[in-house]
Amino acid sequence: MGIKFFEDRKYFKLDARDTSYIIAIVDDEKFLGHVYFGKRIPDEPLDIESLLRINEYPYVPSKNNRERMSFHDSFPTEYSTHGLGDFRESCLVVKDSNGNSVCGITYCSHKIYKGKPTLKGLPATFGDENSCTTLEIICSDKVLNLEVTLIYTVFENLDVITRSVRIKNNSDNDVTLEKALSACVDFDGIDYDIISLNGSWARERRIQRVPVSFGKRSVESIRGISSHQSNPFIALVDKNANEDYGNVYGFNFVYSGNFIAVVEGCQFETTRVVMGIHPANFEWTLAPGEEFIAPEVVMVYSDSGIGKMTRTFHDLYRNHLIRGKYRDRKRPVLINSWEATYFDFDTEKLLSIAREAAKLGIEMLVMDDGWFGNRNDDNSSLGDWYVNEKKIKGGLKYLVDEVNKLGLEFGIWFEPEMISPDSDLYRAHPNWCIHVPNRTPVLCRNQYVLDLTNDEVVEYVYSRLRDILSSANITYVKWDMNRQLSDVGSSFMPKEKQGEIMHRYVLAVYKLLDRLTTEFPHILIEGCAGGGGRFDPGILYYCPQIWCSDNTDAIERLAIQHGTAMVYPLSTIGAHVSDCPNHIVGRTTPFETRGYVALAGTFGYELDVTRISEDDRKLIPEQIEMYHKYNDLIRTGDYYRIANYEDNHLYDCWSVVAKDKSEVLVTYIQVLQRPNSRSRRIKLKGLDENALYRDTETNRLYSGSALMYAGLNITGLHGDFKGKLIHLVKEK
Ligand code: DGJ
Repeated sequence: MGIKFFEDRKYFKLDARDTSYIIAIVDDEKFLGHVYFGKRIPDEPLDIESLLRINEYPYVPSKNNRERMSFHDSFPTEYSTHGLGDFRESCLVVKDSNGNSVCGITYCSHKIYKGKPTLKGLPATFGDENSCTTLEIICSDKVLNLEVTLIYTVFENLDVITRSVRIKNNSDNDVTLEKALSACVDFDGIDYDIISLNGSWARERRIQRVPVSFGKRSVESIRGISSHQSNPFIALVDKNANEDYGNVYGFNFVYSGNFIAVVEGCQFETTRVVMGIHPANFEWTLAPGEEFIAPEVVMVYSDSGIGKMTRTFHDLYRNHLIRGKYRDRKRPVLINSWEATYFDFDTEKLLSIAREAAKLGIEMLVMDDGWFGNRNDDNSSLGDWYVNEKKIKGGLKYLVDEVNKLGLEFGIWFEPEMISPDSDLYRAHPNWCIHVPNRTPVLCRNQYVLDLTNDEVVEYVYSRLRDILSSANITYVKWDMNRQLSDVGSSFMPKEKQGEIMHRYVLAVYKLLDRLTTEFPHILIEGCAGGGGRFDPGILYYCPQIWCSDNTDAIERLAIQHGTAMVYPLSTIGAHVSDCPNHIVGRTTPFETRGYVALAGTFGYELDVTRISEDDRKLIPEQIEMYHKYNDLIRTGDYYRIANYEDNHLYDCWSVVAKDKSEVLVTYIQVLQRPNSRSRRIKLKGLDENALYRDTETNRLYSGSALMYAGLNITGLHGDFKGKLIHLVKEK
């Protein structure tokens, strides 16, 4: 059993593979205290009182009530509330029917059971009775008559504990949640660094590492989507932690909208970490009897560095988050029309690309933006999900059938959450966009966001998607989302519920995705938001892959994919080979190198195969062979970061090792040629040190320990942007 309650000493101990997490019930009033999160320790002996410092000044309220505030402000609490003297970052702020915002929770009861509950309407990791145990600690604020249930699930064979919170109004009056975060952990000491993934459009998820200091540092989005700028992930790491060494605590929010993670260095040298829905633009009113569920935070602990945290997230998400037909399958090698044609295509052009693609071994044609309404640029028609037969001559079914006849599957692009002011939909329903009365909403890419809090709008969008998807043999959808939310208001929601729009919007997106995946289980959905603006575990619950960035330059992608893979498995990272000079940065890189980089993702093409050079075209069948040879390993293996170009400014290197250590694929990219330099020795990781490995190209034999400790010399690369794959197979 991964969770125990020690009745006499009043503490809970949650044990995952190498992790322990301890919560205690303290003092007569039964405060919930956070004792420990870290490397697994034995059940006994444990001096809980001393670890919680409750026999030190200011003591507990039953011993020193005159300093109750000091107790609240220093006690390592399991879930912080606002208004009673804990002045550190709060998780719960509740406005009662008198307009006051004071709340404090204490323990009432608990349940421990096998398995993991679902969170109604929300994406979440899942597990069965053999893999998970759950603890629900039911607390309450007795004055407000508010029940707050802290829900923890331990994945016993992984170093994972998930958390969420259910808040129920048991009073006779409405209460309003002004802030309802999902997780709070108080760490002893402030000698930590914070790792986060920050960026912008076309340069998403660059790794940033900064020290914890006194005061607060936040990673957040108030953009309505998890965002290009900040990913809903942070890790707190020992100051001396590196890839392979040190304590690492990763936090990832299973949510696709506004979020906040705050790390606070506090006065008594403790560090508080909280994570949840951003309180900006958030309010949720609970009528008597109603409840609210705060989305899940996944907490991963590693006792051996950042790399182990990454591999735990990958294992968790591949097995306990991603669902559907494609979860464990190789994805079709697709060619996408976006960088090939942008809006300038018709049936014949698409078919000419498909014909050439079929000859080269490509397996799917994806028709990107521009096939509907009157859409010939990005100024119109979002919402008018009717095929433009001036472009798609003969109709969609004809096109799809012709593509199928060539042996290719067919995929299509949608941007379901949007509406163009220049659209029939907007002309018919100007109130269907998110807006504030008497204020013209701010345009972004010349479009508005649909008001998905209105079920009529959701029904319209769903019925259009369903009609199109049922009209032809479509097996892939790219679900795009190209702007952030502003002017947050709804002509549909009543005044007192305007603060709920941001969260209701996200719930509606999930509902739409849920309906779509239920009704069309054979369709592979790729998430997208102007590239990687919504790359989060919430989306991965519905879409097994997400377009990682609009930046397809192989060198830029090194950093983008390196940061993305900090948390998310390679199987989820949408990556394509595109044409050069690259459309975003103007850089020209060898076609081979573009292939090696895209191989560390879903793999596909984003170019006009009828117009690229003969030399490049000739490489496509070889690249597809390479994809088929290595994708099972890349999708399922253990990922190791070996070198990072962002740090060393010269080269990048990563490897994927089979779970049984029977083979390893090393990718080495020489970004810049260094003059007057010799071969570079790299040290591999994660191999069987007692085994022999044979290089499948040179046939040379190495011992696992020599590869890991003495290293492997990389030779034969001359010039910038050159790459190399090294495949080593364990001798039987
Ligand atoms: C943004 C996406 O990231 C691109 O790949 C492409 O689909 C465009 N939108 C289409 O408008």
